Amino acid sequence: MRVPFIDLKAQYNDVKAEIDSSVQEVLSTGAYVLGKYNKQLEASIAERHQVKHAIAVNSGTDALRILMQAAGIEPGDEVITTAFTFVASVETIAQLGATPVLVEIDPATFCIDPDAIEAAITPRTKAILPIHLFGQLCDMTKIKAIADRHGLMILEDAAQVTFGHHKGIYTGNWGHGCGISFYVTKNLGAAGDGGMILTNDDEIARRCLSLRIHGMGRERYYYDEIGYTSRLAELQAAVLCAKLQKLDDWNENRASVAMVYLEELSGLDLHLPVTLEGNNNTWHQFTLRTTRREELISFLKEREIDSGIYYPVPLHLHAPYGAYGAGEGSLPLTEEVSKQCLSIPVHQHMTQDQAHFVASSIREFALKTVSV
Ligand SMILES: Cc1ncc(COP(=O)(O)O)c(C=O)c1O
Repeated sequence: MRVPFIDLKAQYNDVKAEIDSSVQEVLSTGAYVLGKYNKQLEASIAERHQVKHAIAVNSGTDALRILMQAAGIEPGDEVITTAFTFVASVETIAQLGATPVLVEIDPATFCIDPDAIEAAITPRTKAILPIHLFGQLCDMTKIKAIADRHGLMILEDAAQVTFGHHKGIYTGNWGHGCGISFYVTKNLGAAGDGGMILTNDDEIARRCLSLRIHGMGRERYYYDEIGYTSRLAELQAAVLCAKLQKLDDWNENRASVAMVYLEELSGLDLHLPVTLEGNNNTWHQFTLRTTRREELISFLKEREIDSGIYYPVPLHLHAPYGAYGAGEGSLPLTEEVSKQCLSIPVHQHMTQDQAHFVASSIREFALKTVSV
C-alpha cells in the first residue's frame, strides 16, 4: 500500500468545486489584487484566533520579517530562538540586522526549552521568538512569565500551527503578534506561497500594512518607510478561503492518524512526540526519534511509505549562521534530535488503513531489530 507524505491532488479534489468557482470568479472579474478573498481570509482567521488585526502577505517568511520590523526589531537587538527549525525563523532576524541567539530545545516537544531562555537574556535582548513546531505551541505559560518578568516582546513563529492554541489562547495573542505560513505543505496550504501576520497592536498593524506595500502611507505613492512588495495574490486567497472551510475536519483527520500511531507504537523502543498539557495539536508533522533512522527510512521505502527529515542539520551548523552559534557540540540536544528525528506521513487525506499499515510496519521494524 503506497503511503505518500502528502496528497495534494486529493486535497484539491476535496474542494474542487469551491476552488474552481472562486478562482474562475477572480479571473473573470479581474479583481487580482487585495480583493474580497483577501478580506474574507483575514476576517475568518482573525475571528478564529480572536485577534484584532490579520494582514495577509505573500509568505510566512515575509510575515515574520515584516512583523519583526514593525515591532521595532533593529540592528543591535538580540532575539532568542532555536536552531532546530526551518531557516526562515532565523534568517529573518538576521536580515533585519539583529542577532539570533540560539538556545536549546525540549527534545520531547522539539520546541524552545523555556528554562534555557533566561540564561540567554542580556541587556540587548529585545524579544523571544518561540517557534511552534510540528503543530503545537511552545510552553507559552512559562515563556510569557519570563517575557513579562524581563520586559521582553514575544513574537511567535506560528508558521506550522494555524488554528493552534495553548490553554485556549490562540497564536498571535501571546505577545506582539505572530507570523503564519500558507506554504503548499502546511495544514492550510495555498497553491504556492502565502502567509499572514496576526497582532492586537494597532501601531504594529499599521506598519505591517504599510510595509507590505513598499512602506506606502495612507496616501497612494507617498512613502513612510522602506518596505516590500508582499501582497497575498488574490488567486491564492481564493484557494485558501475554499480550503479554510475544511480545515477543522482536515485537522481532525490528522489527529485520528496521530492517535493510531500513538496507540500502536507505544511501548516500543522509540521516542514518540509529546503534546504539552494545555495544547491542541494540529499535527502538522508526526515526528518520532530513532537511533536507526537510515535503516527505518529504507525499511519504510521498501513498503512504499514516505518519510521525511525535518530538520537534518540545525541552523547553527550551516555556514551563513555559524556566527550565531559556538559550533558543533554547543547545542547537544538540538544536534542529537537532528540526527534522530523522522517524520512519518500524517495528512488530511490519509485513511485509517494507511495509518495502521504505517504503524504495523514500524512495529515490525522495531521488534525485529535490537534497539531503535
Ligand atoms: C517554522 C517555520 N517558519 C517559517 C516558515 C516560512 O514560511 P514560508 O515557507 O511560507 O515562507 C516555515 C515554512 O516553511 C516554517 O516551517
